[in-house]
Amino acid sequence: MSAEYKVHGDVAVITMNNPPVNGLGYSTRLGITDGLSKANADAAVKSIVITGAGKAFSGGADIKEFGTPRSTQEPNLLSVIRECEKSNKPILAAMHSVAMGGGLELALGCHYRMAAPGCKVALPEVKLGLLPGAGGTQRLPRVLGVEPALNMIVSGEAINSEMLAMLPGQKLFNKMASSPETLAQEAMDYARELAQQHADGSPLPLIRNLPCKHPQGDAYFQFARNMVKGMAKNYPAPPKCVDAVEAATQKKFDDGMAFEREIFTNLLFSNESRALRHIFMAERAASKIADVPEDTPKRNIASVAVIGAGTMGGGISMNLLNAGIPVKMLEMKQEALDRGVATIRKNYESQVKKGKLKQDKYDQRMALLSTTLSYDDIGSADMVIEAVFEEMGVKEAVFKKLDEVMKPGAILASNTSTLDVNKIAAFTKRPQDVVGMHFFSPANVMKLLEVVRGAKTSKDVLATVMTLGKKIKKTTVVSGVCDGFIGNRMIEQYSRQAGFLIDEGCTPAQVDKAAEKFGFAMGPFRMGDLAGNDIGWAIRKRRTIERPNMKYSKTADLLCEMGRFGQKTGAGWYDYQTGKRDAIPSAVVVDMIEKHRQACGITPRKIADEEIVQRLVYALVNEAAHILEEGIAGKASDIDMVYLTGYGFPIWRGGPMLYADTVGLFNVVQSMKRFAQNPHDDAAFWQPAPLLARLVADGKTFN
Ligand code: 3HC
Ligand code: NAI
Repeated sequence: MSAEYKVHGDVAVITMNNPPVNGLGYSTRLGITDGLSKANADAAVKSIVITGAGKAFSGGADIKEFGTPRSTQEPNLLSVIRECEKSNKPILAAMHSVAMGGGLELALGCHYRMAAPGCKVALPEVKLGLLPGAGGTQRLPRVLGVEPALNMIVSGEAINSEMLAMLPGQKLFNKMASSPETLAQEAMDYARELAQQHADGSPLPLIRNLPCKHPQGDAYFQFARNMVKGMAKNYPAPPKCVDAVEAATQKKFDDGMAFEREIFTNLLFSNESRALRHIFMAERAASKIADVPEDTPKRNIASVAVIGAGTMGGGISMNLLNAGIPVKMLEMKQEALDRGVATIRKNYESQVKKGKLKQDKYDQRMALLSTTLSYDDIGSADMVIEAVFEEMGVKEAVFKKLDEVMKPGAILASNTSTLDVNKIAAFTKRPQDVVGMHFFSPANVMKLLEVVRGAKTSKDVLATVMTLGKKIKKTTVVSGVCDGFIGNRMIEQYSRQAGFLIDEGCTPAQVDKAAEKFGFAMGPFRMGDLAGNDIGWAIRKRRTIERPNMKYSKTADLLCEMGRFGQKTGAGWYDYQTGKRDAIPSAVVVDMIEKHRQACGITPRKIADEEIVQRLVYALVNEAAHILEEGIAGKASDIDMVYLTGYGFPIWRGGPMLYADTVGLFNVVQSMKRFAQNPHDDAAFWQPAPLLARLVADGKTFN
């Protein structure tokens, strides 16, 4: 059982002990009810304290248990809370560090509550596509007031205990401890006091008995509904939170509880909640690498040199400066350094102007930045990240030089987006220290970091870079070496489909609209115009040499031959007005496409949005299945994280792999077989990847 029971004189202490955050899984729940039974049966015990071991009171229901029989196995959380309410000895919840979700709901079921300062208090279920399902929507408004409680429930944001304790009239905390360290002793002292207060048999207080009213309920909840509707277009949970809190003000307590439960159960089985829970786990799983144990020794990264102060070098440097790591940027010419520093300064200044960055923080960050034109000045850095031109010859010269000057044990990272990291590593005599760090542009904004593991990259280098990724607040995913790594290798197939769709009868605007309706932040053609169509053009030129038989629509090349590189040239797949980013459908482009179709002898057909979305998304899925099977990605959920954080895949769909699982892999494969019949498409590509075919045959899913 994951809770300990100890008696200290006349106080019984039940300590939840289910690392890392005392999730209220079956064995913790059993431990609590077992402790309650013992305490209530022991005449020497006069009061009970429930607390948590380690770094949390409790992080709430065990998310890993959701959807399994264990999550509802008795004693379920509602039963545990009912046992607390029914105890005839006063129960005090003693909270520290984290009291969230079901953990907070457990405390709300206790007779009294004490919190240590700095305890993060939240009902974050909405972030998992849920609402509090163990009475949170009914009890929190009774102790905090309707409006503050609804704000917490709808936002899911954590508030520090001392802030909550200051709310006028709050009944959440009966007492604050003076510090986390003294909480245990202070809780026992207070529990003894409470036992004395109730020695006369006076009833123990229950939150369920408190009134719950809003003076202008109808108007307030209407306002709340409007607010939430605007914020949460694709998420069903927030409006349901409003319904449940409104019910607390209108229904009897037990009816309100039943209402909350019904909504909770419905949300639990919604695709959105499934996706959000998947992402919660996937994000944490991404930093774990199967053959690199968590206790792998890490190298100390106290300073970093960045080679190249261009678009990426500047953004990468900002990430490091934000995390308090000193950076020295190296360039070939002083002008390039000056330009790089000016861009960093401009970015920070705009944050200061918008009130997002305090002046002293800005000063601190800039003070950590230095520059040089000489490799002699960077040799002592613990790590170097190269972001020079994307040419193997240039990378070769840089890495040979780094090999000469960097101290032994320094990590040598490349931000290459397309080149072979193994080849780059082979330019040095220390390939074990070389790793790819593929940031996305703008590097100071985008969450994704693909860490490219070379054939010889050592485990401690990998472990160190993963830790650094967390420190600079990136979602860090490991990729093996291949053309395009995980994300860009998949996007190539997506873009190819977008091209075929144009050949066959779509306009760029129609494809973009369908993709955006599905939930992509941007359709493929708007994305191309933003990133620069010339980048893809250059890559295609290289690939047609490497893969001369590769089939793709020539419209993208024709577009570039017209000089329409995208927003930067004022024209791409769309027209753009000076200084504006609105994509205006272009008659010139439509004409180019029509002429191209005629030249290829294609009679255009009307293509439904459903087919557009399926071809775009299933192309990602099929390529991803190859990537998984080849071991380029370690887990399907890593691929989802790449697409969610780097490529604008709709969050509420949980990433391409979870989406495919949700649609059903059998259905995905059947569609692929249909697409393979299309003479204008690439039949070979649509052969289901062997892994995908096997999963279908075995009735399994990616996740
Ligand atoms: N259940 C199971 N595991 C959990 C968990 C939970 N509720 N909360 C966190 N964890 C695990 C994480 O998966 C991670 O595991 P790992 O070490 O194996 O990767 C570990 O705890 C540490 O998590 P973080 O990396 O997030 O650590 P932090 O210190 O940054 O944050 C935290 C700790 C604030 C508790 C954060 O993890 C968090 O916000 N957790 C989610 C809390 C939550 O959503 N609770 C509501 C659950 S739903 C519920 O209670 C339903 C009820 O109403 C019926
Ligand atoms: P950029 O052209 O903006 O910057 C490159 C900088 O490197 C220039 O300032 C140049 O003066 C400097 N440089 C060139 N050779 C050098 C050398 N030998 N020594 C020192 N400095 C040198 O290019 P960008 O976009 O920053 O790209 C850099 C790297 O990042 C490339 O490998 C690119 O593929 C990769 N990348 C680019 C992304 C993007 O969206 N721009 C995204 C992800 C990776």
